[in-house]
Amino acid sequence: MSVKDLRVNGVRLRATLEEMAKIGATPGGGVQRLALSDEDKRARDLFTRWLHEIGLEVMVDEMGNIFGKRAGKNRALPPVVSGSHIDSQPKGGRFDGILGVMGALEVVRTIEDMGIQTERPIVIVDWTNEEGTRFTPAMAGSGVWTGKLDRDWVYGRADIHGKQLGQELERIGYKGGLPASMWPIHAYFEYHIEQGPVLEGEGKVIGVPEGIVCIHWYDIYLEGTANQVGPTPMEGRNDALCTAAEMVLKVNELPATMGGNMVATVGEIHNSPNSRNIIPGSVHFTVDIRSWDEDLAIRAWEGLQEDFEGIAARRGCLIRIEDTMRVPRTPFNERLVNGILEASQRLGYASHSMVSGAGHDASYVSQVGPTAMIFVPSIGGRSHVEVESTSWEDCEAGANVLLHCMLQSASEK
Ligand code: GLV
Ligand code: MN
Ligand code: MN
Repeated sequence: MSVKDLRVNGVRLRATLEEMAKIGATPGGGVQRLALSDEDKRARDLFTRWLHEIGLEVMVDEMGNIFGKRAGKNRALPPVVSGSHIDSQPKGGRFDGILGVMGALEVVRTIEDMGIQTERPIVIVDWTNEEGTRFTPAMAGSGVWTGKLDRDWVYGRADIHGKQLGQELERIGYKGGLPASMWPIHAYFEYHIEQGPVLEGEGKVIGVPEGIVCIHWYDIYLEGTANQVGPTPMEGRNDALCTAAEMVLKVNELPATMGGNMVATVGEIHNSPNSRNIIPGSVHFTVDIRSWDEDLAIRAWEGLQEDFEGIAARRGCLIRIEDTMRVPRTPFNERLVNGILEASQRLGYASHSMVSGAGHDASYVSQVGPTAMIFVPSIGGRSHVEVESTSWEDCEAGANVLLHCMLQSASEK
């Protein structure tokens, strides 16, 4: 069979994804595999078993990033790398992240079945803590590996129970010995579900992002005065939750105020002591601002911060703000993007150029080497929820595009 007729095994890819989806399965049909939880560990164990089964060299670095390497004819050449993440959101979906890791695995299994020897080595990767939901910031593994985040600072990041990322890495046995620092890569392809409604709306199978929007995260801590709700008059209260409520609406109004090309969200809030008969004494909430226009996102935040300070002062609360994460807007490598468009066309899949509104490890990786992504449609545009789904046919189509792009890159001398 000539290389141009080569296709992945869609039945095997489906079975692999279904096997993985059993780990951390939720009653609503999704998965919960929070970073460095027992479920993450079990999924990592299965993934590394599968890497060993096809004879790959398995390496784990000090951030718990897992690499499976298949040698090329020329071992000295920088490899072609592909992967994504195994961790999930709380009550998340069965495709986000894992499709990219299992998709890369299916590609290498196919290459292995055919006995193809590529010029360059190929590496499959699972990046640690992409989601940033249990531990902030997101994309911690790729952030440290690319030198954009400080390893020890990341080790010290704690979840809401005070467990630190570094300790949890050790606990699950995935604090590896290799330094988490980059080596040269020839190309990085990340295969992922779209997580939005565009491809379905356009009736296209393959999405080809030009890049990823900037993602800015902030944590807001408010300190008011807790008190008995009955005897305390309404006048003069310093209610931290009411203060937060005003701020949450300001965040929601921000994109319209700034004139579009932006989304802004408060997704997480902790109210304390969280009792129906105590005036809320303290609140912690998060702000997520994303835009393809980075200056707009920064100007929006500056205005919002002033609003927050005014609201806090008027309502008698102290405010503390943490700049938790700023991942810049990321344009992808034009040559790789064009290669994905061409491969889609050759394989007979309708494709669509777009921008990714979701964050991916590809953001950090693209700052150190040629990077691009392949998207497939999300049914109903739903993601980060248990009903997240993509048809098996589309999963296979995306993996075929990945196969051809990786083979092409891996044949380059
Ligand atoms: C990652 O999933 C993100 O877009 O926040
Ligand atoms: Mn993802
Ligand atoms: Mn996600």
